[in-house]
Amino acid sequence: MSVLPADLHRPVAHLRPPHNWINDPNGLTYHDGHYHVCFQHNPYGPEHANMHWGHFRSPDLLTWEELPLALSPTPGGEDRDGCFSGNAVADGDRMVAFYSAYRTDRWAQPVTTAESRDNGVTWTPRGSLLIPELPDDATMYRDPYVWREAGRWRMLVGSAQADGRAAALLYESGDLEHWEYRGPFLDRAPQPVAPGADTGPGWECPQYLHADGRGALLLGAWDPELGPRRTVAYPGREQDGRFLADAPELLDHGPDFYAPALLHAPDGRWLLWGWSWEARDPEWVRESGWAGLLTLPREVTLAEDGSVRQRPAAELLMLRHEPAVTAAGETTGTAVLGTVSPSFDLTARLEPRSAGAAGGLRLVTSADGAEYLDIRIDAATGELVVDRDHASLDPRAHGGTYRVPCPEAAVAGAPIELRLVVDRSVAELYLPSGRTLTLRFYSTGDAPWRIEARSGGGDDLGYTAEAWNLRPYTMRYAADASAVSALT
Ligand code: FRU
Repeated sequence: MSVLPADLHRPVAHLRPPHNWINDPNGLTYHDGHYHVCFQHNPYGPEHANMHWGHFRSPDLLTWEELPLALSPTPGGEDRDGCFSGNAVADGDRMVAFYSAYRTDRWAQPVTTAESRDNGVTWTPRGSLLIPELPDDATMYRDPYVWREAGRWRMLVGSAQADGRAAALLYESGDLEHWEYRGPFLDRAPQPVAPGADTGPGWECPQYLHADGRGALLLGAWDPELGPRRTVAYPGREQDGRFLADAPELLDHGPDFYAPALLHAPDGRWLLWGWSWEARDPEWVRESGWAGLLTLPREVTLAEDGSVRQRPAAELLMLRHEPAVTAAGETTGTAVLGTVSPSFDLTARLEPRSAGAAGGLRLVTSADGAEYLDIRIDAATGELVVDRDHASLDPRAHGGTYRVPCPEAAVAGAPIELRLVVDRSVAELYLPSGRTLTLRFYSTGDAPWRIEARSGGGDDLGYTAEAWNLRPYTMRYAADASAVSALT
């Protein structure tokens, strides 16, 4: 049995291979009793190059197995410089992956396919392009997303247009082989989505969630100069091959979340994994030998008002291993609620007793209290503020404060509820409204970490909190051929 080298930042309950680079989740499918999760992967180093598709599968979202690389660039072929993003569908006893064929001598990454007849263990690329013709007016074109609806296959492809509009282009097919272009499903000039943030001049990795006549388009807002910016969602509904979109919203309010992908599970749930990139300097990434992770699987639903809600998949409650914190009380200063391991799942309810109160929770990661991640209530704006400016004593870690709307925070006497899942270097904050905030942080401190409730400015803060230490996923890596149940 091989055990990975100690690395305090490597997650234990988030998917990623032992070494090297990953980015977008790809090819999410349920087939043959398994959830299949592929991802952009450079098997040779911790930087974005040589894109392959890595592959995990699981019967239950808790017990995972790494399968052989699903897709590899074909020397001299259409995808000779990389197998970029896309999704996959199950069609009878075969699985078909749709992906973006990258060559450095071409501006677009046109769609090609690969097929598996052995439940995803091995894949045969078609070799040629599936859709060689490219729209005249596009300046960026990649990332197919295929789904079945009303007896036909449909596909979106992400795009940027010469006129400055971003677009998700729609194709349709009866047989997965012959595709007809139907025009833009949605196109938009950049629209504001949050203070200082817009929906971008290009859209990567379009994903489409739909239920009961309503839907939401999830899009990676991309800029030709700045690259990936943020992920936006357009709620709305389809009419005759066009998506009638309402106002866009941020899909995640944190700085380290991009290119999420959907899996429509057989029980009807829409599950979503996102890519969380590193927030530390490249030199540190090189030293550590790995970069990127996939978020927790999230259940995505549409609220009555059409907005997109996310919460951790119910299965993840099974990772709650040992109770770590059970606390209730009030403080006008600082209350230590208990200690946690570096991978924990916490639920809390905060009740500021006076209007306009600040305060919040602090995760302290060094014994002297100098290193901490803060979640503060901003009653003036009705937001929670996540502050990682002090979350690492290593200057190579990125700082910043990030805000997620939390209207209760502005209402005197209203309790504020939250769930925080921390897995070593990743924090995912979930609010009952379905809003999320994902960020990375890099503690240099020794465990045990501790949770504090802190009142702001001498106000009284009521709190209840419960936290559980998480057990690692059960994981069988391909190279190990043996189950690694504890990564240290
Ligand atoms: C998004 C993305 C996709 C592309 C892939 C390449 O992060 O840029 O548009 O297909 O990553 O790795």
